[in-house]
Amino acid sequence: MSQPLRLGIAGLGTVGVGVVRIIRKQAALIEARTGRPVTITAVSARSRDKDRGVTLSGYAWEDDPVALAKRDDVDVFVELMGGDEGPAKDATEAALASGKDVVTANKALLAIHGQALAEQAEAAGCLIRYEAAVAGGIPVIKALTESLAGNEITRVMGVMNGTCNYILTRMEETGNGYNSLFEEAEALGYLEADPNLDVGGIDAAHKLAILSSIAFGTKIDFDGIQLEGIERVAIEDIRAAADMGYKIKLLGVTQKTGRGLEQRMMPCLVPQTSPLGQLDGGTNMVVIEGDAVGQIVLRGAGAGEGPTASAVMADVCDIARGLRGPVFGQPAETLEQTTPASSQRPAPYYLRMALVDKPGALAKIATVLGEAGVSIYRMRQYEHSDTSAPVLIVTHKTSRNALVEALANMDKTGVLAGEPVALRIEEV
Ligand code: NAP
Ligand code: HSE
Repeated sequence: MSQPLRLGIAGLGTVGVGVVRIIRKQAALIEARTGRPVTITAVSARSRDKDRGVTLSGYAWEDDPVALAKRDDVDVFVELMGGDEGPAKDATEAALASGKDVVTANKALLAIHGQALAEQAEAAGCLIRYEAAVAGGIPVIKALTESLAGNEITRVMGVMNGTCNYILTRMEETGNGYNSLFEEAEALGYLEADPNLDVGGIDAAHKLAILSSIAFGTKIDFDGIQLEGIERVAIEDIRAAADMGYKIKLLGVTQKTGRGLEQRMMPCLVPQTSPLGQLDGGTNMVVIEGDAVGQIVLRGAGAGEGPTASAVMADVCDIARGLRGPVFGQPAETLEQTTPASSQRPAPYYLRMALVDKPGALAKIATVLGEAGVSIYRMRQYEHSDTSAPVLIVTHKTSRNALVEALANMDKTGVLAGEPVALRIEEV
């Protein structure tokens, strides 16, 4: 019989327990597909006594994930704790230093320390595999590193945070603000240990940074991402966008330009009828454009126990089969240093503002937009209170600089009752 592939799993939360369940349930299937048994030698978590709903009695227990990572009877260290510092980083480094392959779902760790870890892994002849780190159950890492390896990638975009998409969808369905929908998302196992990583857009930006590196052969540049979360998306924007035929999504876009690497993760409007506009709940979607393949769209569960554990198991099975390759699709030392570039590509914008209700107010706004070269495509004024009038404007395509100039000048007109909201409308 072939030698078993022996795993040490650190982290027995949503994802870790999911992996244990699959290995117990699908042992025969996995062995048939990989040609060798996949077994668990040892596990680690913070609390040994917690009931996790799975049997752990056959596995050795380590309080310290670093000790687990160094065990002689572990071939692959599976890091499912999370966090870009502390035990996740220490244990991953220890595993690589001990010559072990690593499987992780930890996008934060890779987005911050991916380059150094990849260099360490490749110098030691080890693997780091991380299919679960981006878009949960969607096989996007494999798609980029393997299936599309013959393409020059021109653009990658997507909705990559299940929590945000769930909250935005439920805001539209229920009319409630995002705060009140946290608990629902939490019950589904979507939330990061620190939910600010989700609603602040940071988790999705971690994922985008990883995809940029693979797609464009560049060193991960998380700090170069133009980042904005969903905290400021108001229920009024959800309603107004719907009224104009759009949905609001936390959308990531990355593309290489002559000026550098453009990476942005921010709330955008997309047409209701587009594939991204029809993406509801915790579902993720990644759109990849390549010179030979054209556009492909990957859609599926982006978070939760089963989908994420499924992606971890894809990596484990590849290692069991003996598939090896560089961490980010090409050797880490050949990845290029990038320069961050802000978007110069003109786009239509959605503007929502409250105007003081007096003659000439709207005319002043139209003048300011016209003077900055921003052309109005559609406009609506809604029923208003005694003192202010809500106005919605969709512009023709305009540069970000022209829009910024118009917004600055609007502030000086004296007719705004509150700060205007400006969101990019993305062509998808
Ligand atoms: P989780 O439910 O919070 O579980 C984390 C696990 O790590 C817990 O078992 C915890 O132990 C253990 N842990 C934390 N600190 C530890 C330490 N110092 N020493 C030993 N064990 C420690 O997290 P999760 O949702 O499974 O996520 C795990 C990883 O997968 C994260 O990197 C996350 O970003 C990523 N991910 C999650 C999802 C998802 O849908 N949940 C999807 C994709 C990727 P205790 O149980 O004893 O507290
Ligand atoms: N918190 C993440 C999400 C988990 O909501 O998408 C998956 O990475």
